[in-house]
Amino acid sequence: MKRTHHCNELRPAHAGQLVTLTGWVHSRRDLGGVIFIDIRDREGRTQTVYDPSDLPAEVFDRAAALRSECVVAVTGLVRLRPAGTTNPKIATGEIEVVAQALEVLNTADVLPFPVDDPDAAGKVNEELRLKYRYLDLRRPEMTHNLRLRSKVATATRVFLDEQGFLEVETPTLFKSTPEGAREFVVPCRTNPGLFYALPQSPQQFKQILMVAGVEKYFQLARCYRDEDLRADRQPEFTQIDLEMSFIEREDIYTLIEGLLQRIWKTALNVDIPTPFKRLSFQEAMDRYGMDKPDTRFAMELADFTEVFRASAFKVFSGAVANGGVVKAINVKGFADATQGQIEAMTETARSFGAKGLAFIKIEDGEWKSPIVKFLTEAEKAALQTQLNLEEGDLVLFAADQWLVACEILGRIRLYAADILKQRGQLKIPADRFDFLWVVEFPLLSFDKENNRWYSSHHPFTAPVAEDIPLLKTDPKKVRGQHYDIVVNGVELGGGSIRIHQPDVQKTVFEEVLQIPPDLVKARFGYMLEAFRYGAPPHGGIALGFDRLIAILCGTPSIRDVIAFPKTAKGTCLMTESPGSVEPKQLRELYLELKAPKPQ
Ligand code: AMO
Ligand code: AMP
Repeated sequence: MKRTHHCNELRPAHAGQLVTLTGWVHSRRDLGGVIFIDIRDREGRTQTVYDPSDLPAEVFDRAAALRSECVVAVTGLVRLRPAGTTNPKIATGEIEVVAQALEVLNTADVLPFPVDDPDAAGKVNEELRLKYRYLDLRRPEMTHNLRLRSKVATATRVFLDEQGFLEVETPTLFKSTPEGAREFVVPCRTNPGLFYALPQSPQQFKQILMVAGVEKYFQLARCYRDEDLRADRQPEFTQIDLEMSFIEREDIYTLIEGLLQRIWKTALNVDIPTPFKRLSFQEAMDRYGMDKPDTRFAMELADFTEVFRASAFKVFSGAVANGGVVKAINVKGFADATQGQIEAMTETARSFGAKGLAFIKIEDGEWKSPIVKFLTEAEKAALQTQLNLEEGDLVLFAADQWLVACEILGRIRLYAADILKQRGQLKIPADRFDFLWVVEFPLLSFDKENNRWYSSHHPFTAPVAEDIPLLKTDPKKVRGQHYDIVVNGVELGGGSIRIHQPDVQKTVFEEVLQIPPDLVKARFGYMLEAFRYGAPPHGGIALGFDRLIAILCGTPSIRDVIAFPKTAKGTCLMTESPGSVEPKQLRELYLELKAPKPQ
């Protein structure tokens, strides 16, 4: 019995045709002797009907014995469903197939969780879903995610091919490089004592491809990072990675805006307007307290440094005297914040090293706060006008160094927005997408603990040309030619124009990042050498492919758009990886285990 149609294909026009469907038993209902079974395949589902008065007893008995998720082939006649029994929720809801023959292709054990429940993701423990991932993926919601992922991958390839890009695969057995995230290392049997490392990204190879004259490269690249995992981070993930020669930042913006336009059109049939907004890092921090701001709602940070410079409230004036700032946000309608919520926000402030979090509640026509007694009328008036204060508002303050104060309020802004969303006071339409470029990042950030500069992005990012002389004299001031693409508060991707002059790259490694010259030679020597043989100016970007698909699917977790993701502990519950290896394998690799035996 070979299928004639898939399970999302039959319509009233097919009535009277003899068809064969194959698939899984999705759900069944026994109604006064007649059995209704929904057969599901990848495309959808169709109702089949088994009437004991029309069927040989053995066929009916076979149908009666079917359990959920048995695999079957059904042949029967398509007919219109009787009036009042149509199902507008499914595309085949106007017809049913009256079975004449039924073949059981395979049986199924009792399931660990139901596959036919659209809310399974909310009800079934995620660990169980991951252990039985093949069942979880049968759920139409997950099939939809996989299908969309495939569609977007194809649209990306077609678009970049149209733009003249070559898809080139780069090695995933690479070597360890300092800087960046922790790596996964792989022992190499044929070179005892030496290790490969899995690449964090194809960064170095794609730059070498530019030296090789490829001009426009892309890859749907698998990347590996041994970092703490969260909903938006996996130890192995995929990037739409690309690089171009002879370009400027503007060329990347135009290309990526076109690519995202194509993707949104293909996946959601939505036209996204371009060009995207741009914000400097400075402005993003100043207004939203984040370098990946969610601009779908305002609640912007306001600056009161000048207002409180000479304030009697020493927490504020003291911070200003120390070279810091006083910033505040007004959370409209949150004056009824509970003690626990205020405590949670204060904890955020403390986690950044602040002593506390001053606040004012505007309640019953009064300003309620332990700090109100310190405020002058002029200070109050400034708050009143700049924050447009009204009954029900909650004002929160951070007095600290600029970056710290911004970061504290940036976190609190998101925390408060989440609560207002849950309470229905902040409404964001599900189909709203706020794209923006964040630009002009500082090239370097200072690490107080280790008393050294490190790259804000990675060490290959070019400084803004006129800032190159400052590299050795005033590194803090050097701006990088780096850009991030952000959508709805998610960092979707990042990239930069690269350093292509060997001497500048060497200065950055050795003098700015203070990597010892012998280590630079060992780790990056081949790159510095390659740059001496005619490296074209070049730049690129990588978009997090899993994050992109999660946004398109409207799910907060990238685990929902990866076929076989890892848990927060980096394990695969289905295959039980990572696993141990035989002593013989260790001997071949010249390795000895010192770690305690895992339980
Ligand atoms: P970056 O490190 O910013 O840049 O990574 C680019 C994008 O990859 C995604 N991403 C991740 N997604 C899932 N899980 C992870 N653990 C994870 N880490 C990163 C993010 C991020 O924006 N080579 C440079 C790009 C370049 O300069 O061209 C790079 O990898 O969406
Ligand atoms: P104190 O005088 O130290 O008790 O602080 C008075 C108020 O200021 C308390 O509500 C503190 O939570 C708050 N506060 C302390 N440090 C800061 C800071 N750096 N920024 C904002 N508020 C603060």
